[in-house]
Amino acid sequence: MDIVFRCGNLAQRPAGALVVGVLKGERKLAGAAAVVDRRAHGALSALLARHDFSGAHAELAVLYPTGLKAKRVLVVGLGPRSGLSLHRVRLAAAAAVRKARELRAGTVVIPALGADRLDPAAAAQATAEGAVLGPWRFTAYRTKPGAPALKRVEVVEPGTKQAKSLAAAVERGARWAEGTVLARDLTSMPAGDLTPERLVERAKEVAHSAGAKLEVLDVPAMERLGMNAILGVGRGSAHPPRFIVLERGPKALRGQPPPTVVVVGKGVTFDSGGISLKPRDGLHEMKYDMAGAAAVLGLFAALPGARLPLRIVGLIPAAENMPGGRALKPGDVLRAMNGTFIEVTNTDAEGRLLLADALVYARRYEGATVVDLATLTGAIGIALGPYVAGLFTTDDGLAAELLSAGEGSGERLWRMPLWDDYEKELESDTADIVNAAASREGGACVAARFLKRFAGDLRWAHLDIANTAWAPADRPHERRGPTGYGVRLLLEWLTRRASKET
Ligand code: BES
Ligand code: MN
Ligand code: ZN
Repeated sequence: MDIVFRCGNLAQRPAGALVVGVLKGERKLAGAAAVVDRRAHGALSALLARHDFSGAHAELAVLYPTGLKAKRVLVVGLGPRSGLSLHRVRLAAAAAVRKARELRAGTVVIPALGADRLDPAAAAQATAEGAVLGPWRFTAYRTKPGAPALKRVEVVEPGTKQAKSLAAAVERGARWAEGTVLARDLTSMPAGDLTPERLVERAKEVAHSAGAKLEVLDVPAMERLGMNAILGVGRGSAHPPRFIVLERGPKALRGQPPPTVVVVGKGVTFDSGGISLKPRDGLHEMKYDMAGAAAVLGLFAALPGARLPLRIVGLIPAAENMPGGRALKPGDVLRAMNGTFIEVTNTDAEGRLLLADALVYARRYEGATVVDLATLTGAIGIALGPYVAGLFTTDDGLAAELLSAGEGSGERLWRMPLWDDYEKELESDTADIVNAAASREGGACVAARFLKRFAGDLRWAHLDIANTAWAPADRPHERRGPTGYGVRLLLEWLTRRASKET
C-alpha cells in the first residue's frame, strides 16, 4: 500500500472512499467536513440532523452521496472536542481505513484528522500511522485471504505553507507504522517456521535493507564469550540459540564517537517453559515471546530516512525454550557471562537468563544508553492490565524521556519500582542468585531486579511488554494478537533525543 501526501481539495479527489472526521456533539460542520458536505448536497449535515451519528470516538457511518468524485464517504467519529488527542486521531484514522479495506475501496483520501485543533504535522503523522495500522492483517497462512490490501491512501490538506512539513510527517508516520507492521508479521509467524536460525535470516533481510551491519554469534562463538545463560536456555531445543548484533549510524560525529543507544529484544521463538512446563491453555500464543526481538527489527527497518545522529545497536538473544533431553533442569547452575552463578529454580524464567548475558554484552558499548524490551513476566499484566507496559529504571532522566515518548506514540509506559527490597527474593541456597523467586508476588519487579544484577551501572531501562505485545481483543489500530508494541515508542524516543543532540 502506498501512502502519500497531497496538497489540494479533499472533496475533488477521486477515490474508492473519502474519509471525514466529525467531533462528538458538533452541530455545525467545520473544515474539510464542511467542504465535503457542501459538495455532497448536505449529506453529512443530514446524517447529523437525524441523530444517526453521534461522533463518538471511532464510530463509523458510510454514505453514498452524489456530487463527489469519491465512490463513498466514510464518516468517522473523533469523540468530544475536549478529549481530542493524537492517539484518538490515530485510532479514528485506523477505524476508517480498516473499514475502507473491508469495503474493498482500493484507494482512500483522508484529511489530517484533528489538524485544526492539534499540531497539524503531528496530526498528519498520526493519521498516516492509523491508515497503515488499521487495515493490517496477517494473511500468510490463509488460502482465502479476504479483502485485498488497499492500493493507495492519500492524506489531503489544502495548499498551505506547511505542505513540506506535512508531507514529511506523512512519510514519517507511514514508515514508523510499517516498522510496527513488520514486528507484527514476525510475531505472528508460527514458532515452527520462525526458529532462532530463521530469525537470523529475517534479521539479515532487515539489516540489508536498513543499511545496518549485522553480526551473528553461533554456539561456539557464544561459548568463547561465556554466554552460558543463553546457551543453557537453548540446550533443550533441536534448534540452537543465536546472538544477533545489528549496528547502524555514523562512526563519528564532529570527530567524537557518536552517542550510542543499545536496544535489546528478548527473542524466545517459543516458550514451552522447558522442564518447568507451562500448562496447555493458551500455550500456542507463546510464539509471541520474541516480540521484543521483533520490535528491535521493526525499529531498524524504520531507521532509513530518520537521519538520527546516533549510533544504534540492536542486540537479540534468540533461543527456543524446550524440554528436550539435554534441557536445563530445575536446580542446575549456570555461570553467566559476567561470572555470576545462577541457580535455575524455574526453567520457565528463561527470558531473564537470555537478558543477563545480553546486558553484560551491552557493557562493551561504553557510555551507551541501554533499553531492553522483553515479554518477561505474566505478572506485569496482573499489575497493569493490557494497555500500558512496565518501565523499570533507576535513572529519573531516562524514565521521564521514555514516559513522555510513550504518551506521544500512544505506546504507553508506567513506571514500576526497582528497589533493592526485591533482592531478598533472589537469594539462593547454592549459588549467587536464583532465577525465579519462590513466591509469585511482585513477579515483574523481582524479574527486573534480577536484570539489574547484570546491567550493573549501565544507563539502562527495562520495558516488560508481556501484557502489551499481544492484544486480548480487537482495537481500531490493532487486532487481537501481536501489536508490534515498542517500535513507535522507540522511534519517538530516539527522534526526540536526536533533536536534543543537534
Ligand atoms: N514468556 C514468559 C512471560 C509471559 C507470560 C509472556 C504470559 C507473555 C504472556 C516468561 O518467560 C515466563 O514464563 N515468566 C514466568 C516467570 C516465573 C516462572 C517466575 C511467569 O511469568 O510466569
Ligand atoms: Mn518462560
Ligand atoms: Zn518467556
